[in-house]
Amino acid sequence: MNGATGTSGATGVTGVTGVTVRVPAKVNAQLAVGAARPDGFHDLANVFLAVSLYDEVTATPADRLTVTCEGPDADKVPLDATNLAARAATLLAARHGLSPDVHLHIAKAIPVAGGMAGGSADGAGALLACDALWGLGTPRDALLEICAELGSDVPFSLVGGAALGVGRGERLTELPVAGPFHWVFAVADGGLSTPAVYGEFDRLAEDVDVPEPVASPALLEALRTGDTTALAGALANDLQAPALSLRPSLAATLAAGTEAGALAALVSGSGPTTAFLVKDAESADQVARALRASGTCRATHTATSPAPGATVL
Ligand code: C5P
Repeated sequence: MNGATGTSGATGVTGVTGVTVRVPAKVNAQLAVGAARPDGFHDLANVFLAVSLYDEVTATPADRLTVTCEGPDADKVPLDATNLAARAATLLAARHGLSPDVHLHIAKAIPVAGGMAGGSADGAGALLACDALWGLGTPRDALLEICAELGSDVPFSLVGGAALGVGRGERLTELPVAGPFHWVFAVADGGLSTPAVYGEFDRLAEDVDVPEPVASPALLEALRTGDTTALAGALANDLQAPALSLRPSLAATLAAGTEAGALAALVSGSGPTTAFLVKDAESADQVARALRASGTCRATHTATSPAPGATVL
């Protein structure tokens, strides 16, 4: 446990003592990155896929805003006002003229700074939990607007399933998706800063004509039909080269998963978590075992997709 526990016996305006929301991690089935825009962001064609690896955010009434976190990486999670869960509660309260007097507890399973939208998941989770605790019934569109203000990946954490994000990734269109698709994730030592990886993308692209980012029709078709082999051939991540440039050791992790029988291996988002698409649950266990034995990662998770978006438990 990181931080003091601050649960309160008091009840919220709804008479509810606490609300827990479960939120999935994501993998980018395709992350096509355009040239840097004048505002520093990049236009994307970002095909998000939610996976069954979840954080849980519990909101309970308190006399001021506090955040605690538990989980293997809890010591790496900031508990101050910069935490996306705290920022979500503050934005939601301000919108309704309230004071964000809430205790937020995060049970964290998603790797921290790992390229799996763990921070975004906590932002979306806190937003939904506070909305329920405070009995606000904020319309979905308004919740999505707050999510977009919190970060480019936060709207998808609310929505889940599969979606195409354009603009800086926050303008979502839900996608039809079958499945299940089976994944193994290898957690690396330490995180990678998303702005640093985009910065490295810009450096590598300096003398290159970066094409407009577009979603791959073959990839969208593979998702729609649940065709694992076709999906394996269509996975693509333009942030993989910059992530590998900043963290060359990830190449050995990718190779270890491929040698163990993964159908495809790629860096998850901005990394350094690596993602392996496998045939079935049995293959997932086998690839996860081989990755741990290879000594090229700190831990592994197996998961399936699609997974639902933020859900009140
Ligand atoms: O929106 P979010 O806070 O998740 O973005 C973190 C950082 O990632 C941004 O400050 C920016 O450096 C980079 N980014 C980008 N283009 C995007 C999304 C994020 O350059 N479309």
